[in-house]
Amino acid sequence: MRDGTMMAIQYHEQGGPQVLTYEAVPVPEPAHGEVLVRVHAAGVNPPDWYARRGFAAIPPELRPKIPLPAIPGSDLSGTVVAVAPGVTRWQVGDAVFGMVRFPSLGNGARAYAEYATAPEDHLAAKPAGVSHVEAAGVPMAGLTAYQQLFGGLGTGLTGAEPRDFTPLVPGADALPGTALAGRTVLVNGAAGGVGHFLTQLTRLQGATVVAVASGRHETFLRSLGAERFVDYTRQSPAEAVHDVDHLFDTVGGPQAYRLLPALRDGGVISPIFYGDFHREDASARGITFRSGQVRSDGAQLAHLARLLDDGSLRVGLDSTYPLADAAKAHERAERGHIQGKIVLAVAPD
Ligand SMILES: NC(=O)c1ccc[n+]([C@@H]2O[C@H](COP(=O)([O-])OP(=O)(O)OC[C@H]3O[C@@H](n4cnc5c(N)ncnc54)[C@H](OP(=O)(O)O)[C@@H]3O)[C@@H](O)[C@H]2O)c1
Repeated sequence: MRDGTMMAIQYHEQGGPQVLTYEAVPVPEPAHGEVLVRVHAAGVNPPDWYARRGFAAIPPELRPKIPLPAIPGSDLSGTVVAVAPGVTRWQVGDAVFGMVRFPSLGNGARAYAEYATAPEDHLAAKPAGVSHVEAAGVPMAGLTAYQQLFGGLGTGLTGAEPRDFTPLVPGADALPGTALAGRTVLVNGAAGGVGHFLTQLTRLQGATVVAVASGRHETFLRSLGAERFVDYTRQSPAEAVHDVDHLFDTVGGPQAYRLLPALRDGGVISPIFYGDFHREDASARGITFRSGQVRSDGAQLAHLARLLDDGSLRVGLDSTYPLADAAKAHERAERGHIQGKIVLAVAPD
């Protein structure tokens, strides 16, 4: 911290990765109930670049407005360096990680920076056995997988998303168990941030996991517990797999319905991203849908921290970049085919 300023990534206009600039900005002040975190690492997530591009894929009338200039980023891992009045859980020196103020826009986490503020209940203690870089890869993707399975999803930024938040494993706390024993789960987009956590968490509940991804991810996904692997670039998942009980789809898009034949009648679909599933055809087969928007939750993140600590949950690292190279990290993200997470290293571990 130099004279109350810090280095951060900002954008002053919306556009491609080149609008991200590395510049000096004031260090933020924690409000009542918040802490100031020295950020060691910041996770890169799809909403970071959707927002940078002005949510161009959302219809104009539903498009959230982002106050500019904006510092991107919701996921961070770091050390508490100041504590505002009202904070009871954290002390200066604590190592923490979290998805901060999500979903929200103007008042988001602003994690692509040397320092960031966070409401105390959006954070969990960083597991001692994982680095800050690994921990920063967990919050949004890990909580999305967690909340799909165990509950906690809410409405999204636009309010237009489907709203059945019934969890697949209600009341559980992510401890390894048998809640999905005897069930077959298909994870589409299994190698990505959300997919690789879904693969592991469903396996930890006893499911037989079918992972769908491009071929280079096979070894990675089998090492995370996938029993079957389908390379979608070579074979249609709907031809390769049948009688799946539960489909988690992190890919979505206008051709999502092509996965329907893989599902058994009466099965369940959890669309993580919007997809056209020809819902009338699905309903005629008794297929139901559950989805919603991930929300900040430090207590749930603490459950994931426990699994990270004992080694039963792993973070795949696609790539890391110095904070100053956030534009390169976004270019990497937009090229797709991510294996695990992209993380910005902000300070040495
Ligand atoms: N509802 C929520 O609250 C919520 C929360 C978090 C994320 N999301 C959304 O969920 C989506 C996924 O997020 P993420 O962070 O996991 O993204 P990600 O890390 O970019 O992963 C996407 C994965 O999909 C794979 N893929 C691409 N096309 C595919 C296809 N046709 N079939 C199978 N796999 C394919 C990619 O690799 P390969 O093509 O090489 O296999 C990549 O590994 C994003 O759109 C994000 O906005 C929603």
